[in-house]
Amino acid sequence: MRKGLVVYQSKYGATKKYAFWLAEAMGYDCMERREASAAVLMPYETIVYGGGIYASGIAGFSFLKKHAKLWKSKKHAVFCVGASPHDEKAFLEFCERHFKEELAGTRCFYCRGAWKESEMGFVDKTLCGMLRKAVGGKAPEEYEPWEKALMSCPKGEDADWTDRQELDPLIAYLKGL
Ligand SMILES: Cc1cc2nc3c(=O)[nH]c(=O)nc-3n(C[C@H](O)[C@H](O)[C@H](O)COP(=O)(O)O)c2cc1C
Repeated sequence: MRKGLVVYQSKYGATKKYAFWLAEAMGYDCMERREASAAVLMPYETIVYGGGIYASGIAGFSFLKKHAKLWKSKKHAVFCVGASPHDEKAFLEFCERHFKEELAGTRCFYCRGAWKESEMGFVDKTLCGMLRKAVGGKAPEEYEPWEKALMSCPKGEDADWTDRQELDPLIAYLKGL
């Protein structure tokens, strides 16, 4: 058996950075989601999946659903990377929404990522602009968690909150598995 594998999907690089930091800290292998077939996953004792958060969804979530049976037969965990500041209550709701049915019981961790407006393509830039406009009409105390996240991102600027220490709770969990 091989020790562990980190599989990730990242568009703007923050999840990729966390995936490699985690692999280094744990002595795991690391690869992009598109390379990770069932045959590739099979020999690993532990599999961790990392995905960026887009419009309150986890990038590559279908990967987890597709491999749920195999995944649950091993030690496993997920980490998600978003731009929003840590918010325990909002993240719990987020986890409840995603990890049910065949994925129930999956431990999921949050790491704060980056906001790369300068690298966004037309679609993401337009989508963010439209959402910002729509949400801007509401009172801040009425924001949904994802709306709060969007409005906390600096408009027209880039920001990077990635920090190795964000992985500490996940590393502690994996070491105790
Ligand atoms: C179209 C779009 C939607 C996003 N939606 C959310 C969101 O709902 N919640 C959040 O915390 N961050 C959101 N973000 C910010 C990303 O999660 C953040 O940039 C993260 O670093 C993405 O991971 P990656 O760098 O690995 O691609 C969004 C970014 C874009 C471009």
